[in-house]
Amino acid sequence: MTQVTASAPGKFVILGEHAVVYGKPAIALAIDRRFTVRVSPGPEFRINGEPADINANPHIKHVSSLYDMRPVSLYTESRIPPGAGLGSSAALSVAFSGAMRRLHGLAVEPESVAAEAFDAEYAAQGRGSPMDTSACTHGYGVALNMRGCDRPLWSLEKGGNRWDVHDIDVPAMTFVIGHTGIRAATGPLVEKVRKFRERNRFASDIVDEIGDVTLEGMTALRTDDRVRLGELMTYDHKLLSILGVSCKELNKLVDASLPHAYGAKLTGSGGGGCMIALTDAPDRVAEAIRSRGGMPYTVSTRVEGLTVGR
Ligand code: PMV
Repeated sequence: MTQVTASAPGKFVILGEHAVVYGKPAIALAIDRRFTVRVSPGPEFRINGEPADINANPHIKHVSSLYDMRPVSLYTESRIPPGAGLGSSAALSVAFSGAMRRLHGLAVEPESVAAEAFDAEYAAQGRGSPMDTSACTHGYGVALNMRGCDRPLWSLEKGGNRWDVHDIDVPAMTFVIGHTGIRAATGPLVEKVRKFRERNRFASDIVDEIGDVTLEGMTALRTDDRVRLGELMTYDHKLLSILGVSCKELNKLVDASLPHAYGAKLTGSGGGGCMIALTDAPDRVAEAIRSRGGMPYTVSTRVEGLTVGR
């Protein structure tokens, strides 16, 4: 029987979250934790051997709808913590889309997969940018809204917005991700920043400054200047805190990491979720995070994006 295996990496946002909503640049890096799916045609939808209610799995449902809802049996295996802003649902959508394209004899073009997976995320969440699905498809690193970037990957449009996605240089680096264990929905945090910006003129300056920090971060990545990159990350955390999207648990994990790291910051929408620390001493950072009640995950960057059939 035909069976296709596909896998896609998780990701984190290194710089630019929240400001990206206002057209500023943002950078996401893929990590060496992957979501793997094994897909084969079947008489009914099954997930991990059990009959599945497709309506309870909006990402799977949306991608399947592009293939006339032909039922499949799907086995999943993931090393990406779910609900942590690390791209778990995006990686599932990307891997499933890649597998379905191969299963139906279509070319597995990254551009098509990134678009399909973004549609699935958008349909499931009703909002969002294609940062996660692009990073999980392409791997390595992607930049959104990055002017002067000369390595375009694809452009995506939705709800009157347009995003240009670029490939960027990513050195192999070690980060420790610290999960606060707090689940915080992205929508209300994006809304909080929007209101803050409406009411306080200086909030726009903070958003602009995050844009400048992200641009400088691009240069630090390109030149593999970890000291500068770390400084920019820590500074960005302060800017995000002023915007009101950090929380005491995130601040605690950032503070605990800093003595052993080039820099540290919250990643993604904030309010909980995860922080990241760039370090050469991952064990010490992991211990510091654990001692403050966080769950550490040591990860590497410069990893391959979607793979199909291997
Ligand atoms: O929590 P994540 O990793 O999906 O990132 C959200 C990033 C925001 O800039 C806050 C929102 C967005 O859609 O770009």
